[in-house]
Amino acid sequence: MCGITGYIGYRKAYPIIINGLKRLEYRGYDSAGLILYDGKDIKMAKTKGKVSNLEEKITNNITTTGNIGFGHTRWATHGIPNDINSHPHFSESENLAIIHNGIIENYDTIKKELINRGYTFKSDTDTEVLVNLIEEVKKQKGVKLGKAVQIALNEVVGAYAIVVFDKTKPNEFVVAKLGSPIAIGIGEDNTEFFVASDASPFIEYTKNAVYLEDEELAIIKVGKSIKIRKIKDDSLVDANILELKLNLEQIEKGGYDHFMLKEIYEQPKAITDTFRGRLLANKGIIRMAGIDDNIQRLLNANRIIIVGCGTSWHAGLVAEYLFEDIARIPVEVEYGSEFRYRNPIITENDVVIAISQSGETADTLAAIKMAKEKGAFVFGVCNVVGSSIARETDAGAYTHAGPEIGVASTKAFTTQITLLTLIALKLGEAKGTLSKATYHTYLQEMELIPNKVETLLTINDKIKYIASIYKDATNFLYLGRGFNFPVALEGALKLKEISYIHAEGYPAAEMKHGPIALIDENMPIVVIATKKGHYEKVVSNIQEIKSRDGKIIAVVTEGDTTVKEIADHVIEIPETEEGLTPLLTTIPLQLLSYHIAVMLNKNVDQPRNLAKSVTVE
Ligand code: G6P
Repeated sequence: MCGITGYIGYRKAYPIIINGLKRLEYRGYDSAGLILYDGKDIKMAKTKGKVSNLEEKITNNITTTGNIGFGHTRWATHGIPNDINSHPHFSESENLAIIHNGIIENYDTIKKELINRGYTFKSDTDTEVLVNLIEEVKKQKGVKLGKAVQIALNEVVGAYAIVVFDKTKPNEFVVAKLGSPIAIGIGEDNTEFFVASDASPFIEYTKNAVYLEDEELAIIKVGKSIKIRKIKDDSLVDANILELKLNLEQIEKGGYDHFMLKEIYEQPKAITDTFRGRLLANKGIIRMAGIDDNIQRLLNANRIIIVGCGTSWHAGLVAEYLFEDIARIPVEVEYGSEFRYRNPIITENDVVIAISQSGETADTLAAIKMAKEKGAFVFGVCNVVGSSIARETDAGAYTHAGPEIGVASTKAFTTQITLLTLIALKLGEAKGTLSKATYHTYLQEMELIPNKVETLLTINDKIKYIASIYKDATNFLYLGRGFNFPVALEGALKLKEISYIHAEGYPAAEMKHGPIALIDENMPIVVIATKKGHYEKVVSNIQEIKSRDGKIIAVVTEGDTTVKEIADHVIEIPETEEGLTPLLTTIPLQLLSYHIAVMLNKNVDQPRNLAKSVTVE
């Protein structure tokens, strides 16, 4: 959480920082702030609210000259979101300024110590404590900024990505990382540098970047090459300069009103990109280096434990059905946060699959670190290339969905399912647990999925109409069975995330054990009733809803006539293998929540209190 970005070089820093913050706003939007150094003074502006509020404040109050500066967009942890708690923070002397993404857990002890030494604090944040600790170390030990940051960081417990600037040495930034991500963009001949939580703020200026590893500290000086050291033992580390593949177009809205809608419409391409080069349906081959190289480990696994959070956890639940059905391997699906704290039994014969769009989710990351320590083989399914989870895992495969910016996850979900389906099929084929004919049918059907999603997207207006009827409902129920039970959970999550309407997902048959009590004529119920998925049983559930006057929005297979007669609204999906239906049934549910949120005037891309990349536990 929290986005940080900065610039030091020869260009005007302000537009780079403000545009960068807008691109990082998905990481938190409780408050925003920046500093600019104009060669003489540090000017600071910060405010509660969004980057647009900051922009307004700046145009009224401070000049935007200067070639050095950094900014922050916050997801509040310590201290309520107000102007004072916003970043950046000054040290007592106001010579040092800092931006920070993370949490300093022992800040209270350090704060008391600093207060005893005469420091005063303006904010409630852990970050202001850190910048004053750095100042105190610098003063006490008479060391340069880089050394002072290093010593201070060895005293703190917690997580951080920080950038520190010293007015008395205004040609450098000190950058450090533990837990939270940070990328450093390098301009031609080191004439300029960019820092940011991800590469999006500087992608139009340079393709060369270094991603700091945990416990590394970098000193960035204009005109000099970047110097990286280990925080613990001071040893020098070679800068691993990567060439970025990201382009500007991928992170812009491209004519859509919202990133979420763009990302929903990108799914045919995103799914194709996930299986491109991997799925060779005509040859009956699935090629995935991460799986091929470790196939025995996976085939001999006692069980597969899938960990994830939020939407990624839902993708894990779909995978549970797929792996057990297709490859006959026992699967457990765990929330990262629960798994790591409940002393789970993990052995060297277990395989852990970590699913994460961002690759930065703290709970998932902590869970896999623990699983690794206990000897399990850990496989990552991530979207963001080079992310912490991608680096931490023993092997993995990227979803290649492209940047997902809308906070509510859409294409990340369907591409995760695509990838996990390929893995299940590959293992099933190697184990001989599914017939050759079924395997080939799956492969051919998978190839057709992008076109079927494309077709589904053409019913957008119909879904918009359904949204207009139910937008004022206060509760929604989503029901599904088998492969589509997790889709019901995901549909409910999408609605509550962006429209703030209470919604619950349930296995259809469980409805009679509780949620049925809620059903009356005001209750819309979305039921996924595809042809092969325990169809008759779901039809009975629909009858039970009908007889209690609930409003039924049914997602059915094309050509269905039975449900059509009972349901208030019917959304048809093209026919496919039952195991692939989640890739289709998800689409109308995404669109339904999107349209309801737009009609209710909610902030679709940045729903309140949420953030896309949750780097706190
Ligand atoms: C946050 C996001 C969700 C996401 C979850 C897990 O809560 O708002 O959309 O599903 O984190 O994120 P990950 O990046 O690990 O998939």
